[in-house]
Amino acid sequence: MTAKRRILVTTALPYANGPLHLGHMVEHIQCDIWVRFQRMRGHECLFVCAEDAHGTPIMLAARDQGITPEELISRVADEHRKDFDDFGISFDNYHSTHSEENRVLMEGIYAELDRKGHIERRKIVQAYDEKEQMFLPDRYVRGTCPNPDCGAVDQYGDSCEVCGATYSPAEMKDAISVVSGTKPVERESEHLFFRLGHFETLLRDWTKRLQESVRRKLDEWFDSGLQDWDISRDAPYFGFQVPGQPDHYFYVWLDAPVGYMASFRNYCDRTGADFDAYWAADSEAELYHFIGKDIVYFHCLFWPAVLHGAGYRTPTSVNVHGFLTVNGQKMSKRRRTFITARQYLEKLSPEYLRYYYAAKLGPGVDDIDLSFEDFVQRVNADVVGKLVNIASRCAGFISRNFDGRLADSLPEPGLYDRFAAAGETIAALYESREYSRAMRDIMALADEANRYIDEHKPWQAIREAGREAEVHAVCTQGLNLYRALAIYLKPVLPEVAAASEALFGGRSWAWADAGQPLLGAPVEKFRPIIRRIEMKQVESLVPDSEKDSTVKEKKDEGKDNTIDIDQFLATELKVARIDKAEFVDGADKLLRLELDLGGETRTVFAGIRSAYDPATLVGRLTVVVANLAPRKMRFGTSEGMVLAAGPGGKDIFLVSPDNGASPGMRVR
Ligand code: 2FM
Ligand code: ZN
Repeated sequence: MTAKRRILVTTALPYANGPLHLGHMVEHIQCDIWVRFQRMRGHECLFVCAEDAHGTPIMLAARDQGITPEELISRVADEHRKDFDDFGISFDNYHSTHSEENRVLMEGIYAELDRKGHIERRKIVQAYDEKEQMFLPDRYVRGTCPNPDCGAVDQYGDSCEVCGATYSPAEMKDAISVVSGTKPVERESEHLFFRLGHFETLLRDWTKRLQESVRRKLDEWFDSGLQDWDISRDAPYFGFQVPGQPDHYFYVWLDAPVGYMASFRNYCDRTGADFDAYWAADSEAELYHFIGKDIVYFHCLFWPAVLHGAGYRTPTSVNVHGFLTVNGQKMSKRRRTFITARQYLEKLSPEYLRYYYAAKLGPGVDDIDLSFEDFVQRVNADVVGKLVNIASRCAGFISRNFDGRLADSLPEPGLYDRFAAAGETIAALYESREYSRAMRDIMALADEANRYIDEHKPWQAIREAGREAEVHAVCTQGLNLYRALAIYLKPVLPEVAAASEALFGGRSWAWADAGQPLLGAPVEKFRPIIRRIEMKQVESLVPDSEKDSTVKEKKDEGKDNTIDIDQFLATELKVARIDKAEFVDGADKLLRLELDLGGETRTVFAGIRSAYDPATLVGRLTVVVANLAPRKMRFGTSEGMVLAAGPGGKDIFLVSPDNGASPGMRVR
């Protein structure tokens, strides 16, 4: 047994303005498995996370909802906590970047970086919304790509999704503020810059510890030169004010990773743990961050440099994973592949997803796919068909026939010893995050255990007089093989493990418990441990387009028909430009519209033929329900719904925004 390690682990802090989805859960499950494994090995492994609560999107979302940012982040935090809890994510602490601990740490780090000459002040020019009186992040400006060979409309203020050009909002043609719909002007203000280049030598060395593909990406960034990082934002902003500069705030991405420390500080204040033992420059504790591949720059360049510059230790490593696709597609509400954590939990046990992700995850940054068919097949075959099957075939015989006790010895100790010896190989796979290989090894052992039971057929032997002792021995062997495997799977399947611990008397298992068989001990009556998944449960995770295709007029049944703000905000209304409009053969009420939603084209069938000549519609702006599930109709699939007023016939009036709106803008 190696010496006891002190380990601190974090997952990326979720933004406090939206629900967790199954993509988030890849990381939290991957990390939770690792943490639970370390704890079972007897190490001290602390796991902290927090809400990422600052920034422009949160400020604007709160404003849109008519609440304060504090109210928004507190409501979302409650939902996040509940989701994590129900998925069995075993945080030691969950906090918020909008906290006193974070403010104190952030101010201390900034003061130290400034004192050591790593901060520079420089004037910059940015897009400014005069109506809303705010500077606009590039993502809040849209307009036409300035590349003369491109000219794509409705692109972001920093880069063109069509030709890949990068530019500033000022260079765009017809730039529009997404916040107010007005034309932005240019305005100068002073910003703070972190001199990342000061840390190049440190970073070139520190990054050697990272995954191969991450290192390759970092080499590209080193080769193109480390740029100073703009770490301040102008008021209005939701964040921490820069001390002594009331109109300036720290950029959300500066204080977000400091939130890892703040959450840990909060944990120390609650429990008396030693903060410095983990964060001081000479700390011997291990520190790991689990993150997705989209935020490598922040965690593998800025963060270690900031820590080092401010006199703290750097992370032991940063473990990067890939993205999740669902049924081979990017997660998207429109493709019906966007599944929130809560939608999943309402239908299915977290154990299934934990196992499935484990079976798919390796140590690299490859994306993983949640294919519904594979999910059902894999979980049913492995967890139910192979693993739990071992226990269910043996436990009943013991509780019914042998006073509920295991025999005093194993008939095949060599077979058990092989299972016990596999523990070290499997542990090494968990340690290096090679979970899919660990699952494969465990399931290969489960196959062996099942073969052993098949060969000895206790269900036959029990019917033959004089063979009781043999049944007792075989079932004791089988249950011990099961116990070893349930121990190895405990990091992945905490609920299955808890039910199995209860079967064997209730003591909580450590990894080393698999080293010895359990003999002569009582076993409880067997209760089903986990059920098979039905395909229809999985299919019900996404709305059924066929069912949705019949528009159900709700009768007024005298019930309260108000909706709450969340229900309203769930409807995504967007400005669309009608690029094409035509009659539909065989449909006397419909027009087929081709809509531009800001770089995205949709086909919508609209029942407005009686009021509009299609030729008059082309070029006109309207409003579309953009997140309506696609509906299959006789003439094709309708990918949204345009809004119109009026009773019908000639009296249909298409809703149009005022001049100045552009395709893709959100409507509220
Ligand atoms: O990308 C994100 O979702 C960020 N909220 C992650 C922050 S991780 C850390 F730096 F705080
Ligand atoms: Zn372009």
